[in-house]
Amino acid sequence: MTLPIGTPGGVATPAFNPLRKGLRMERTPPPCVMVIFGATGDLTHRKLLPALYNLALEHLLPEGFSVVGFARRPLDDAKFQQGILESINKFSRRRPVQPTVWEQFIKGIYYVSSDFTNLEGYQALAATLDKIDEERGTQGNRLFYLSTPPSDYEIIINNLGKAGLAKPQRPGSDAWTRIIIEKPFGHDLKSAQELNDVVAEVFRENQVFRIDHYLGKETVQNILVFRFGNSIFEPIWNRQFVDHIQIVVAEELGVEGRGPYYEESGTIRDMVQNHMMQLLSLVCMEPPVSYEANAIRDEKTQVLRSIKPLDADEVVERTVRGQYGPGTIFGKPVLGYRHEERVNPNSITDTYVAIKLFVENWRWAGVPIYLRTGKRLPKRTSEISLQFKPAPQQLFSPSGMPLEPNVLVLQIQPNEGISLKFGAKVPGQTMNIRPVTMDFRFGQSFGITAADAYERLILDAMLGDSTLFARRDEVEQAWSIVTSITDGWKLHMPPALPNYEAGTWGPKEADEFIQKDGRNWRRL
Ligand code: BG6
Repeated sequence: MTLPIGTPGGVATPAFNPLRKGLRMERTPPPCVMVIFGATGDLTHRKLLPALYNLALEHLLPEGFSVVGFARRPLDDAKFQQGILESINKFSRRRPVQPTVWEQFIKGIYYVSSDFTNLEGYQALAATLDKIDEERGTQGNRLFYLSTPPSDYEIIINNLGKAGLAKPQRPGSDAWTRIIIEKPFGHDLKSAQELNDVVAEVFRENQVFRIDHYLGKETVQNILVFRFGNSIFEPIWNRQFVDHIQIVVAEELGVEGRGPYYEESGTIRDMVQNHMMQLLSLVCMEPPVSYEANAIRDEKTQVLRSIKPLDADEVVERTVRGQYGPGTIFGKPVLGYRHEERVNPNSITDTYVAIKLFVENWRWAGVPIYLRTGKRLPKRTSEISLQFKPAPQQLFSPSGMPLEPNVLVLQIQPNEGISLKFGAKVPGQTMNIRPVTMDFRFGQSFGITAADAYERLILDAMLGDSTLFARRDEVEQAWSIVTSITDGWKLHMPPALPNYEAGTWGPKEADEFIQKDGRNWRRL
């Protein structure tokens, strides 16, 4: 019999943490095998395998849990295991590897080498999976993970179908088969619809888990808790009280050797279509009827449906695109985008985007939602801020100038937390008002480091919970907005690029863009 990974009996148990008392943590899925396509790739080694190892450390993996790597590179089980050990030691949030946990973990690691086009490789995979079921008691439960370039998705999905691997195994039992599909899911609306059709030929929708790692972040999940688990915020969460919303995802990183991918995607596809649209729908959605996957996804999709795709003129008025030139980040000189590895020296790809959108429904009509995201900005920070309307009477401002408005900030990362800005009287004989903040920080209140988003999401997929994954209609709806923008861009000359220096807050046009509405970007 296989020992559950991470059980006592040789395996170190994390020390008891009183701050975690009362938190719901018992979520062990049934025994299963995870098959990773693209097992030698960057995402697998940086994120997926370290996530699995951390789940093992927390005793959250089921008994007999196994991993099969599937990729072209000719490796055997031992070499694959060695590579995993190195990656975990390099990228895991908890390292170095604990020998006792590792010993258990590698017992269930296998490798199948095959070209993705070769059906025989899938037959070999089927045989390996049957053997693992037999030896490690994984009961026919299978989770496939597409961690390959998207151009390989179609052939892998079709071959899984042809090899009989897509349907649940062991008819009459509870055995399940699921597939996680990485982003980018399509390149535009049409290709996303086509990919969805390919998937639907082989898998049923409830087997499909389209991953967006932002949904695995604690702070992103907390948006729902904050809004719908408390009674005091929802009554003011609407156009009567909110002047506008800003959603920002800033990164100091450049394209990190991913030139060819980035040339195809640009920031609009890399960040806006997925992560930013997810943040927007969570902030703007109506309360769901229950905390159940489809109830939540219905409401999120409804928000995206309420955003009308932009016509060509609106694209000019309501978007700004930028690209970084050379500059400095944290005092070190960095290259401009056009000089990055494998990037066209005349590239017009966007590395920065600002967009103004409207959710045209009863709650949000007329409230602008400004999105801003870019690479090579001065620092990494993501936040959602709701700026409230000024108080209707200026009692404390003799000049009649409104005091600084209230702002509620949901800080996604780093310094995860929430803060509320309001005016307070400066102690003294005069009625001076100064803005102050009330702060909540996850780290301080709970005393734990949040798990990586992939840990949460992989576990959810094993448990069959698709709440934090995107549904077909949701992905297509997000694409219809983004495709209207990229189509609009094709009709107009791009701005002169590069138009911002690495290490600055983006093109000056982006400042003018919001200032002409009488507003400013929040200082970050
Ligand atoms: C990925 C993008 O989806 O998200 C990257 O492809 C980006 O370009 C990354 O850097 C940002 O994720 P995080 O979790 O670091 O905010």
